[in-house]
Amino acid sequence: MPPRPRKSKTANAMWGGRFAAGPAAVMQQINASIDVDKRLYAQDIRGSLAHCEMLIRRKILSAKDGAAIRRGLRRVLAEIESGKFRFQTALEDIHMNVEARLAELIGPAAGRLHTARSRNDQVATDFRLWVRDAIDGLDQRLRNLQRALIDKAERHAGSVMPGFTHLQPAQPVTFGHHLLAYVEMLGRDRGRLADCRRRLNESPLGAAALAGTSFPIDRVMTAKALGFDRPMANSLDAVSSRDFALEFLSAASVAGIHLSRLADELVLWTTPQFGFVRLSDAYTTGSSIMPQKRNPDAAELVRAKTGRLLGSLVGLSVMMKGLPLAYSKDMQEDKERVFAAADALDLSLAAMAGMIADLTVDTDAMRRAATGGFSTATDIADWLVRALGLPFREAHHVTGRIVRLAEERGGTLEDLPLAALQAIEPRITRAVAGVLGVERSVASRTSYGGTAPANVRKAAREARRRYLRA
Ligand code: ARG
Repeated sequence: MPPRPRKSKTANAMWGGRFAAGPAAVMQQINASIDVDKRLYAQDIRGSLAHCEMLIRRKILSAKDGAAIRRGLRRVLAEIESGKFRFQTALEDIHMNVEARLAELIGPAAGRLHTARSRNDQVATDFRLWVRDAIDGLDQRLRNLQRALIDKAERHAGSVMPGFTHLQPAQPVTFGHHLLAYVEMLGRDRGRLADCRRRLNESPLGAAALAGTSFPIDRVMTAKALGFDRPMANSLDAVSSRDFALEFLSAASVAGIHLSRLADELVLWTTPQFGFVRLSDAYTTGSSIMPQKRNPDAAELVRAKTGRLLGSLVGLSVMMKGLPLAYSKDMQEDKERVFAAADALDLSLAAMAGMIADLTVDTDAMRRAATGGFSTATDIADWLVRALGLPFREAHHVTGRIVRLAEERGGTLEDLPLAALQAIEPRITRAVAGVLGVERSVASRTSYGGTAPANVRKAAREARRRYLRA
């Protein structure tokens, strides 16, 4: 690399009026955000077009200059989209890169676009528009994952597996029921993002640097043109608030936490020790040294990406904490974190939807695991309450002795002869056998939200209606 000049000779073309000399190279380097914020180009140009139309309508800008600006901005957009645009670090950020190119294209009229606005309200507007678009994209991704889960859940509404607490076999459940639990979590994730979208959908444009402007602008007009519900009420708040980004990151983090739990279960279920689930070749990798391996890399990476999401949330929170009003340059670092989080969540959701859609289930292995671990012990206790009228605490104690006996004999609860049961509680009858099987156990859990296959089928239909309707 050639040595960097210590400073550039000319002052900044956009704001350099009061400067005799240009910035040090390292100053340019620390100051520039173009590598990150070029992703705002579409929102930036959209915002500028709305601002331009409003300036024309309010006669702050002549129709002629306005038309030139409009044409120029569209040309800049086309250049960026076709990859022809040359982004320059010396021009700091997306706003000045666009404006400088506009000046090259249409001449001095370009300088009139920045009337009655500042980069402070400009960037706040662009960023809100970007996060709003990101939320809409993520909502679709979440919905796709919900659909994959509901499809699988319907197919496996009656597939019995062990339900766990403490990761110890607890009571039999169905695989479909387990998957629908995630559908509910993802539904709340969508709700949180929708809340965030509702609150962020106000326009900062026209707040100018911090105090508003003396030009007769129409903030309602630009807000409407950009799809915002209304202009933000306070100009200082408009340029200095980033709670919409924090809210987005916290909603994204919670979604990531949900995904990481599902990812972890996939990692667990695909081990030979569990053997409940097989991921497709498309979502597994081999090992360069151990030929037998099928590693669930995608699931592991989804689990890991949650670190990025939470890292972004904590990073931006720390950065915002204690910042005085109004704008401070610290806030330029907000975008990198939000982009990283949105990308990580988007990719994780896509990978998870693919894994779920493709996976196959070993229903025999699941059922076998459910019959071990004395998982129908609660059903015996419930039977003792129902059939013999025992208080539940006593029934629990009696069942505990039955479990110990089965354990000592090295078999399942179903293997115990009636005489052995009666030795523990003489009033037990042959009828108890009816509650010992895992199918009977799950079928009996018919309370609302319970795991009975009939419930699961109904819940899947309900979920389709609640979450997948267009
Ligand atoms: N690149 C800046 C940012 O992302 C734009 C706003 C700059 N404003 C300023 N007064 N320097 O925050």
